[in-house]
Amino acid sequence: MRIVIVGMPGAGKGTHAAALRARLKIPQISTGDMLRAAVAAGTARGREAAGYMKRGELVPDRQVVELVRERVMEADCAGGFILDGFPRTLEQALALRGAGVGIDIVLELHVPDEEVIERMTGRRTHLPSGRVYHVTRNPPKVPGADDITGEPLSVRADDAEDTVRNRIASYHAQTGPLLDYYRRQAAGEPGAPRYVRVDGSGSVAASRARVFAALGIA
Ligand code: AP5
Repeated sequence: MRIVIVGMPGAGKGTHAAALRARLKIPQISTGDMLRAAVAAGTARGREAAGYMKRGELVPDRQVVELVRERVMEADCAGGFILDGFPRTLEQALALRGAGVGIDIVLELHVPDEEVIERMTGRRTHLPSGRVYHVTRNPPKVPGADDITGEPLSVRADDAEDTVRNRIASYHAQTGPLLDYYRRQAAGEPGAPRYVRVDGSGSVAASRARVFAALGIA
């Protein structure tokens, strides 16, 4: 299955993509994680992306399209993949299509703006793996430590409230037209990806159950 997950910052894309990866045994491709790894490694790509990410703006399409195009060609993607946070502009979707990369399902995770802000301020991340927790809604077994490695958890640099508000504004302005495009395609074009909109609010367990049901996974 080739799945695209679209949703606001903090909608739960990473959380549910990780659950789907474990269940379906297909790779999770997170452009946010890939860009953060490039920033941490100090590569040319990372240096170019850093300023945009710090301000809560989208990184230029060209850069993320290259990243994803290279990644989906790798052998482990032959049986499907989960795109977590890509595409998020119409141009990115068109580039993906132009590269001949097919998609079976577009899953939109819908969460109200105010719930997103509460989630981001409580988020804790294990940066090396991208595993995410929330101090109250999805706490690690030991406070402040990753469940698998025991390593310390971090607060992401772009989770400050002002930056989160910029990320939400970017989402409404730039990702809105992408959702319209996928909805129109699903309604009228033979062979287009199926479009499903899932309520991503509330507890992790409840929203995960809705995601799995929408994808027909038991
Ligand atoms: P990215 O890392 O993709 O950030 P984002 O889209 O802003 O989304 P997040 O990772 O913040 O949230 P999420 O939806 O994955 O939620 P999570 O599961 O963590 O991108 C970062 C930056 O990189 C962008 O701002 C941009 O600059 C750049 N970038 C990335 N991709 C790009 C692209 N394609 N084009 C251009 N630029 C790009 O959950 C959030 C928290 O909520 C967690 O703590 C979780 O435990 C908790 N939580 C509480 N309740 C629930 C629930 N019901 N379900 C799931 N999680 C819940």
